[in-house]
Amino acid sequence: MKRGEKAILALIGVFLVAGVIRSMLHVEGKHDRDIPFYTTATHDLSVNGMAIYNKNGCSVCHSLWTMKDILESVPAPMLDGIGSLRSEAWLYAYLSSPDPQSILPTRLKKKWSMPSYASMPDGDRHLLAQYLASLKVKDWYLEQTKKSEYEKLTGKDYPK
Ligand code: HEC
Repeated sequence: MKRGEKAILALIGVFLVAGVIRSMLHVEGKHDRDIPFYTTATHDLSVNGMAIYNKNGCSVCHSLWTMKDILESVPAPMLDGIGSLRSEAWLYAYLSSPDPQSILPTRLKKKWSMPSYASMPDGDRHLLAQYLASLKVKDWYLEQTKKSEYEKLTGKDYPK
């Protein structure tokens, strides 16, 4: 193996390790200190909730714990703090709906709008809704988020 190749492999190794450590930290719910997101979930709920989240490819479109599929750029709402905006019952109903756009309208093409997860196992939908409901944000930040998400989704100014 050439020296250059070794260096590249070493570099890839460093990135992989850093990625694993980052995702471990994120599953634990630790966060940049200046973004006031937190979760009220137990360790088990965080781990199981994130497993379902990842298995269903939610991160292709959404960002959560500042992580998002960097290859895609769908303007889907970020899910940090979503539990301050929506209740567990709402989230469960939304995930279970055969037509999520009947609950929340979209201005995106079908390909990028929120897919129906009605066929996800019921237990997974309950757990995911419970986990999402545990994702909280401090009040002052919620107002800012609401405003920017509203403007992104509707293309209109947020009503004062
Ligand atoms: C194909 C892209 C895509 C995927 C995959 C996707 N979503 Fe969405 N999601 C959206 C979009 C876009 C919206 C905004 C509503 C719309 O346009 O349909 C949305 C809305 C939501 C909302 C409502 C946000 C609010 O403001 O109340 C929640 C909660 C949500 N998604 C959770 C999930 C979860 C959990 C998964 C994985 C199981 C997931 N999404 C997968 C694109 C996606």
